[in-house]
Amino acid sequence: MQKLVSFEKAVKTKYPEQVVIVIAKNKAGKANPVTLGWTMIASYDPPMMAVGVYKGHYSVRCIRHSKCFTIVYPSSDMAKAALFFGSHSGRDTDKLKEFRTKTAPAKKIKSVLLADAVANFECRLVKQIATGDHITFFGEIVCSHINKKTKKRLYSLGKGHKLGAA
Ligand SMILES: Cc1cc2nc3c(=O)[nH]c(=O)nc-3n(C[C@H](O)[C@H](O)[C@H](O)COP(=O)(O)O)c2cc1C
Repeated sequence: MQKLVSFEKAVKTKYPEQVVIVIAKNKAGKANPVTLGWTMIASYDPPMMAVGVYKGHYSVRCIRHSKCFTIVYPSSDMAKAALFFGSHSGRDTDKLKEFRTKTAPAKKIKSVLLADAVANFECRLVKQIATGDHITFFGEIVCSHINKKTKKRLYSLGKGHKLGAA
């Protein structure tokens, strides 16, 4: 049996929600990480993923400028980093410098990987669609990496950005 409620109320039932960190460079070459919950695998062949970024976020500018981005699956022990990247703007913060995070160079795109993450996907921007107040960016995966150690992924467990293993 279902009852009629507002979208705002119904969508709060979505948890746990996966968390990714998207990294793209700005004009000056600074890599800007941003934490996102809105993400999906968009195609298997060719491999593609999509992310939804609020149109006013600095990351939109970085992705549009560099035309490529990394999608990171953070591990459950990266909750503090994910919260930092998701509560500061690259407009006035060098997030990777301020929240010291181990990076590694990407192999096929001009971006970086997060060394301690569960997985990193190097994406070339192939399409972008304005979807209401967000921009959905589609990236073709040109290179994939996984951690040599087995790690658990990070999830958003409830409203207020409570992050942890699911
Ligand atoms: C767990 C979590 C999930 C988030 N999900 C999204 C999302 O899906 N889309 C979005 O635009 N912002 C999302 N945010 C907010 C951005 O990460 C945040 O506004 C960030 O500071 C923007 O950074 P920027 O200005 O450098 O782009 C999320 C934040 C957190 C902590």
